Amino acid sequence: AEKKISMQGETKRMDGDEMTRIIWEFIKEKLILTNVDVDLKYYDLGLPYRDQTDDQVTIDSALATKKYNVAVKCATITPDEARVEEFSLKKMWKSPNGTIRNILGGTVFREPIICQNIPRLVPGWTQPITIGRHAFGDQYRATDFVVNQPGKFKMVFSPSDGSANKEWEVYDFPAGGCGMGMYNTDEQCSFLSDHWCLKSYPGNTDFCFIHYKPEFDKLKIWYEHRLIDDMVAQVLKSSGAFVWGCKNYDGDVQSDILAQGFGSLGLMTSVLVCPDGKTIEAEAAHGTVTRHYREHQKGRPTSTNPIASIFAWTRGLEHRGKLDGNPDLIKFSQTLERVCVETVESGIMTKDLAGCIHGLSNVKLNEHYVNTTDFLDAIKKNLDTALGK
Ligand SMILES: *[C@@H]1O[C@H](CO)[C@@H](O)[C@H](O)[C@H]1NC(C)=O
Ligand SMILES: *[C@@H]1O[C@H](CO)[C@@H](O)[C@H](O)[C@H]1NC(C)=O
Repeated sequence: AEKKISMQGETKRMDGDEMTRIIWEFIKEKLILTNVDVDLKYYDLGLPYRDQTDDQVTIDSALATKKYNVAVKCATITPDEARVEEFSLKKMWKSPNGTIRNILGGTVFREPIICQNIPRLVPGWTQPITIGRHAFGDQYRATDFVVNQPGKFKMVFSPSDGSANKEWEVYDFPAGGCGMGMYNTDEQCSFLSDHWCLKSYPGNTDFCFIHYKPEFDKLKIWYEHRLIDDMVAQVLKSSGAFVWGCKNYDGDVQSDILAQGFGSLGLMTSVLVCPDGKTIEAEAAHGTVTRHYREHQKGRPTSTNPIASIFAWTRGLEHRGKLDGNPDLIKFSQTLERVCVETVESGIMTKDLAGCIHGLSNVKLNEHYVNTTDFLDAIKKNLDTALGK
């Protein structure tokens, strides 16, 4: 019998869709459960089951995250018209991400995984840039509507104390169009500044909020507010080593730009930190890799990068280890992360990464890159070695 690291606390595991669901299974069975005795609560967020439960499983999973404090989530499909048809869905269910975030609130931190031999699309980014994305409200919780006749679009605010309504005219439509109302709250906004400046990233922050100036001075870090367009220009010129705080939509877009700039969406971690500062949900920063899944369905080999999915598990388990005071679990998580980076640095990698080095049109299977199974097997072998098995 192998010695497993045992854990007391429960961790929640959320299954997902397509290629990432297949990879997820391997990670769970071969990398995690063979080494860690973990009490997993399982929620199937695959699209068929979300449809079957009228999306209740997504809500239940978010409530369970609140209860257990740690969740690892597999990538999921956000349905569009084509998906509604493909899966014969009862309706176009909302993005599980959005549903979960609206229940949990908080901030999504995305951090690149740096491998020395993977060139960055932006060569100047020699140090990590962590993006803190406000994960509440804004466009993602907006009310929108279609206008199909002339008329006025107004906003009304009714104070709870019964005082007079406040009203603003937004637009006088001469004909058809569309409108949207959106909001955010002080609670969510102040949490964003609190968390990433003082708890999460001391010493690694160049941009933070001004009312923490005394603490910042002590840590030799500073904060600056910039408009998004100015900041985008600044980021491209910088060498990294800062946390970039963004509103929900800006963070959504800019975090994908960062991921590409650092090499690949497959090398980006994503952790949602809730306002209680204790509850987290970790996931890969990318989608379900549909294109590879189609190939896989045709029986063709794929070369899908599993690293971000593995880091979803390690970030979740590491946090579990911190909450439970379990140093073995923390060490295991860090070892697995190191093994992923070292495997790539030893020259064994998936096609996306080989493409970053040689150019996608020049890379050959088994010369520059390996298929999904071979890559996962290599990680497993190197992990066993690192754990002294
Ligand atoms: C879900 O959220 C993660 C974390 O921010 C993000 O990287 C991913 O792209 C999102 N996926 C969808 C389908 O919205
Ligand atoms: C992956 O490549 C190996 C050879 O390196 C091969 O044995 C295996 O069948 C391939 N896997 C798939 C799913 O094609």
